[in-house]
Amino acid sequence: MDDLEALKARHLVAVADAADEDALEAARLAALGKKGEVALKMRELGKMTPEERQTAGPALNALKDELNAAIAARRAALADAALEARLRDEWLDVTLPARDRRAGTIHPVSQVTEEVTAIFADMGFAVAEGPQVESDWFNFDALNIPPEHPARQEHDTFFMHRADGDNRPPHVLRTHTSPVQIRAMQAHGAPLRVIAPGRVYRCDYDQTHTPMFHQVEGLAIDRDISMAHLKWVLEEFCRAFFEVDEVELRFRASHFPFTEPSAEVDLRCSWADGQLKVGEGDDWMEILGSGMVHPKVLAAGGIDPDQWQGFAFGLGIDRLAMLKYGIPDLRAFFDSDLRWLRHYGFSALDVPTLRGGLGG
Ligand code: DAH
Repeated sequence: MDDLEALKARHLVAVADAADEDALEAARLAALGKKGEVALKMRELGKMTPEERQTAGPALNALKDELNAAIAARRAALADAALEARLRDEWLDVTLPARDRRAGTIHPVSQVTEEVTAIFADMGFAVAEGPQVESDWFNFDALNIPPEHPARQEHDTFFMHRADGDNRPPHVLRTHTSPVQIRAMQAHGAPLRVIAPGRVYRCDYDQTHTPMFHQVEGLAIDRDISMAHLKWVLEEFCRAFFEVDEVELRFRASHFPFTEPSAEVDLRCSWADGQLKVGEGDDWMEILGSGMVHPKVLAAGGIDPDQWQGFAFGLGIDRLAMLKYGIPDLRAFFDSDLRWLRHYGFSALDVPTLRGGLGG
């Protein structure tokens, strides 16, 4: 049995010395493989007397077990060492500043929302907010759109389901930012000067319509507000937003249930060579809806229409962004395509201000 001890010692050393997985496998095969030394010894058992076999058999089995255990231990040690090495090599300093080329960008919708907010803030308008899931009273009734009014159909409304047996009118995804007028009036009363930027929803989808888009609502209420104030505010806004010295607006008589009188507003522009130039040329571009707040709307907001009056307007942020920054397809706004976002996005550090420049 002395040669078994020597064989064991030799193989244990080979296993312990194996520097990697391959070397360990070679050592395993040399000892325990089909043609390994232990297998050859096993074969010798057949030639032994039963008495010899009785001691040699268990001894060989014990040797096999011992070698297998040594191999498993060595394999675990090698795996630990490999992990240690990886942790050492792939060490990452998470306190390092982000690399420039990986920096995210500000979406044109966010950028334009910031620009619009900065311009109106400068004219004394605060920002008001309302929920995107809105009751149909705020979205329609309070804005002088009763249930039978045809404007309800035109809004392509998304309705939220009520539980079975609940017969109250369903909530809606707000179809415009106008309900925020009512909420702001109820919360603050008059006088009031607010804008309400935010998401709105309509069931519509093509090159110029997406089921979710963005509007800004404007509302000014005081004792003697007139259409002239509305016109001045909108002209100021267009001059600042399009960064031109002169703009010309055209008020076209229109109809909205929540304003009386109502006007759609067009901006003089030229599209020569496919380039938009504001304030010159012979084209007119519709940019918003507006009017004097309907007495019923003031009353729904808890404001006495005999004491107060005001103007309101609503414009589409996405369309403003497309116009100002030359973006052709609205649908791309919401595709989350990184190449598009890098191309049309804005630096997070360029916060739009009237004095520092709005952007672009
Ligand atoms: N809410 C209207 C829409 O989504 C836009 C609008 C028109 C808002 C006239 C107003 C307004 O405040 O006076 O189509």
